[in-house]
Amino acid sequence: VSQPSRISLRQHEIDRTERDVDDRSTIAFYENDAAEYARATRSISLAAEIQWFSQFVPASARVLDVGCGSGRDLVALKRAGMRPIGLELSARLAAIARDYSECQVVEGDMRNPPFADAAFDGIWAAASLLHLNRADVGRTLWQLHRLLVPGGTLFASMKVGLGAERTPDGRLFSYFLPEEWSGLLGAAGFLDVELRTEIADNAETPASVWIQSLARIAS
Ligand SMILES: C[S@@+](CC[C@H](N)C(=O)[O-])C[C@H]1O[C@@H](n2cnc3c(N)ncnc32)[C@H](O)[C@@H]1O
Repeated sequence: VSQPSRISLRQHEIDRTERDVDDRSTIAFYENDAAEYARATRSISLAAEIQWFSQFVPASARVLDVGCGSGRDLVALKRAGMRPIGLELSARLAAIARDYSECQVVEGDMRNPPFADAAFDGIWAAASLLHLNRADVGRTLWQLHRLLVPGGTLFASMKVGLGAERTPDGRLFSYFLPEEWSGLLGAAGFLDVELRTEIADNAETPASVWIQSLARIAS
């Protein structure tokens, strides 16, 4: 069997998996496990990534933390001098993040973010776009583009891999190869895409390979 036909078979299986996935089950996981998830992920440090991001946004940047989870990065972004706001689909995590960070946290869906055009200098999306159905990722990147000022910057971290799966806890994960991810960012109008990859075993087992990406829109 040649390599191309193996890939197309896999693609077929991936498409079927995605159609079967009920993405409410992702948010059900975060709702049901909100307190435990917040506790388990709060000590993770993204200090190096925040330092990288901060080089590309102005002082006191207005930043949207998309899928802010526990509110951990809202606190870190605020400590770095930015003015972060959270967006979170799980009502329980949104409440936890609000209490913990003392930042505004809006309960809403990143696929249809309830903010005006050009409302933010930067967008921070740590491990959140990976929960979208692969078909929604491109459309959502366009929405995030819409929210940025000219020259605005997006940070996004994603897991490296092929296709999508629903893990036993009910969450949908969509995976991308690095070149595929930079292609998607480019197709959504992002420029100057920079990628870093790293292996991390934070709250997830087994350890995963991650893409950290930084990209800007035109000035
Ligand atoms: C893996 S967690 C990452 C949380 C946080 N960014 C962090 O790094 O600890 C993914 C987060 O995205 C949120 N989320 C998933 N789908 C979302 C959507 N469509 N709109 C907004 N938030 C979403 C989840 O509720 C969860 O808080």
